[in-house]
This record gives sequence, C-alpha cells and structure tokens, in this order.
Amino acid sequence: MKQKLTQLKEEFANEAAQIKGPEKLEALENKYLSRKSGLLTNIMKGIKEVAKEEVAEIGALANETKNYITSGLEELRASLGGGAASFDFTVPGKKPPVGHLHLATIAIREIESILEPLGFVRARHPDVEWDYYAFETLNMPGDHPARDDWETFFIDEAPIKMNLPEDSLKLVKEGRRLLTPHTSSIQVREMEKGVLPIRMMNISKCYRRQIDVSHVPMFHQFEGLVIDKDINITHLKGTIDYFVKKFFGEDRTIRLRPHHFQFTEPSFEVDISCGLCHGTGKLEDGSACRMCKEGWLELAGAGMVHPNVLKAGGIDPNVYSGFAFGWGVERCFSMKSGLNIDDLRLMYKNDLRFNEQF
Ligand code: DAH
Repeated sequence: MKQKLTQLKEEFANEAAQIKGPEKLEALENKYLSRKSGLLTNIMKGIKEVAKEEVAEIGALANETKNYITSGLEELRASLGGGAASFDFTVPGKKPPVGHLHLATIAIREIESILEPLGFVRARHPDVEWDYYAFETLNMPGDHPARDDWETFFIDEAPIKMNLPEDSLKLVKEGRRLLTPHTSSIQVREMEKGVLPIRMMNISKCYRRQIDVSHVPMFHQFEGLVIDKDINITHLKGTIDYFVKKFFGEDRTIRLRPHHFQFTEPSFEVDISCGLCHGTGKLEDGSACRMCKEGWLELAGAGMVHPNVLKAGGIDPNVYSGFAFGWGVERCFSMKSGLNIDDLRLMYKNDLRFNEQF
C-alpha cells in the first residue's frame, strides 16, 4: 500500500502538469479524491488487509498524499485563474481591518461641533508664527518675564523682515519666528482682518519644550475669541458653562478663579467639578477623591481681552470689548467622564493597543 500511495502522488503530479485549462480541474479532483470512487479511496479500501502495527503509518501516509493532491489542485486553480468553478460563494468574506480616527481628531471634531452652533467660525493660521503675534501683540514685549511660561521653540535665525501690510499701529517691521506655543497667537491676526464683530475658534497644534506625564512637546489647543460691543464676563461664563456641559456632561459645573494672563484683564482659571466625586472632594466611602482631592479640576485659562491687545489689532477698546479662552485639547479629552488617562504621552506613542480602546 505504501508503494501504491507513493505512486499515486507521482501519477497525480504527472497528470497535473498536463492540465492547461481550468475546465479540466474538476475531473482531475474527482478522479483522485472522490470519496466514492476516487483513486485514493480505492487504495484505502485495502486498509483492512494491513497488519495492525502498520495501520498508523499507512494512515499518516494516506493523509499526506491527500494533502499533497489538495494543495496541488489549489495551486493549479490559482495559476489557471480558476473561473467560476473555483470561486466558493459560501466561504465567509474576510473583513479588512478598519481603523478609526486618532483621539485628538475625535476630540477636535467634537469641540468644533459644540462651538459651531454658537456662531464660532474656525480660523486657520500658520504653525510657524511670528514672535510678534505669539507675544508682542499679546501684551508681552521682548523682555517680559511672562514669556517664560511658554517654553517656546524659536527658529534659529536672525530677525527678518516681516511681511505685514503697511499700518501705523505695527511699529515692528522685523521679527523672529517660532513654533506657535499657543492658539492665542491668532487673536490679533483675526482682528487685523478688520471685520467686526469677531466670533472665531482656532483649534490647532502648539509646541513647547516640555515632556512629562501631563505634557507633550506637540499638542493641541482650542481657542475662542469673541469681540463685539457690550461683551462682558457673563457672556464668557455662559459660553464656557455651555461648552463644559456639552463636552463633559450636564452634571458638571464650572467656577472661575482669578488668575493672571498678560493678554486678558481680568483673567481667570476655569475649574470644572470633578466627575469622580461630583464636586465634593470625597468618595462614597468617605475617603478623599484620588482624582481631584478637593472637588474641582483645573481646566484652562480665559478672560476679557486686554485693551492693549485690542489696540494692537486696530480696535478701539472704548467701543469694543471681548472675551477669550484657550484650553488644551488632549487635557480636556483625558478629563472626560469615565476616562482616566494617567499619562498624556500615550496618545502619541502610536501603540495601537492604546488607541484601539477608544
Ligand atoms: N494662551 C494661554 C496658554 O497657552 C491660554 C489662554 C488663557 C488663552 C487665557 C486665552 C485666554 O485666550 O484668554 O496658556
């Protein structure tokens, strides 16, 4: 039987080599593998005669022969282009792996969709920005110590001519460039367009020389800027409260804490009530909340646009006023109810196991 099986393989190989078209394949398959009358079945009928101790060996060889013929047929089918006969409609389809958007993009789209119905229009400006817009016009002249907070990447070049339209308010004609450290850089750019009122949002990349569990050197911020007649703090508070309820949940509340930014007066730090302890600072079992400790989480900066910033943008602060806010996208996303990302750097490590969880 061993010999017969080996011979069968040879015969099959010879015969298969003669096949030139897919229409002969089915007959070839039947001839060798048909369960009722195929050549392999015929040989195996002799298994009853085989000595007990040889049965296992013969069985293995028969299997090998069958596999040999099956894969030979498959190869032939593939090389001859099979035709309809080789396409098995009953085999379940293979699903290609489908990815999804990155967390930052998901967050950006959500933020945009919340602010848009309030009338905020998305503005876009370059990542490589003038020092003039990132600091000077925001009430931070060249040697101002407040600049230190932004840990900025400057472009390594001598000051160069700035491409600004002629305008008496712009005394600076040469400037340095940098990677924009915050989305506020576009406030005066928007004012320079000369169209009032302004209701704009800027959601884009920012760069700072910092990396630890809560900072990455490239991150995103979103900025809102509203300038009109009679704008006051209640507009600021209402807008932020609305945003927070939409983004974090209806049960969250905000508080404004006095703070200092050079480009707003007054300035605030915005806190939101903690999603874990609901603003109490204590968990159900009476222990201190591990997320916030005192009921509030620090979210972001905001304030009423400083008169010097309005002036830098050519707007009369005696007629117009405005409010602005600027927050970290990744930070907001990681603070969303139910999410507890304890290391922001994970967002940009490109580890799919992390990204696929969301
Ligand atoms: N640009 C500030 C920062 O990066 C955040 C900020 C604070 C933006 C107050 C504002 C604002 O528009 O009014 O830290």
